[in-house]
Amino acid sequence: MTQVKLKPYSRVKLIEFNLDLLIMKRVYFIYTLFLCVLLFACSDKSSNNNPAKITSKPIQKQPKALPSEPVPPEQLAKAKELLAAKYDDIDGKAIFKRNCASCHGFKGNLKSSGAKDLTISKISMEESVAQIYFGKGLMLPYSKLLSDAEIVAVAKYAKGLRK
Ligand code: HEC
Repeated sequence: MTQVKLKPYSRVKLIEFNLDLLIMKRVYFIYTLFLCVLLFACSDKSSNNNPAKITSKPIQKQPKALPSEPVPPEQLAKAKELLAAKYDDIDGKAIFKRNCASCHGFKGNLKSSGAKDLTISKISMEESVAQIYFGKGLMLPYSKLLSDAEIVAVAKYAKGLRK
């Protein structure tokens, strides 16, 4: 009895439900199509940028040259003055460990805080002394922390770290 009464009602519901499902399916289909197109467009771009780029990336991590702004001439003049003076022998290694290793590492290649890799450095002794004395970028000036003799000694030690 009750079943017969419910039947027409449920049939309408069923048709409505089916219609809803159909619309939803369409929406999903269009959505998926859109995603596919998007994915294809993205993957196409990266693959078009040749696979060589991916293989060359790890190699690029170790730059051969160190791009750097030139040291101002007045700083170089001061460095020349420091280098010309006579000093007693000072242990540059100890000074380096105390003052420089936090960024450059004991071997000079730590590169912490954006420090340059000293083992592949190409700069002259004067530039090096000037940079330690006056500082550069994130590197502090050491003119007030170290004596002239210590600066020259540590610069020489740093140069010795080069390969
Ligand atoms: C706070 C971290 C820090 C400390 C400590 C530090 N440096 Fe540096 N050093 C740097 C940074 C950063 C650079 C790169 C500066 C730039 O070119 O902008 C650099 C660059 C250098 C360079 C130049 C390398 C090149 O090829 O251009 C030398 C030489 C150097 N440091 C020596 C020293 C010495 C010697 C000491 C210790 C007395 C020292 N540094 C302490 C951060 C540091």
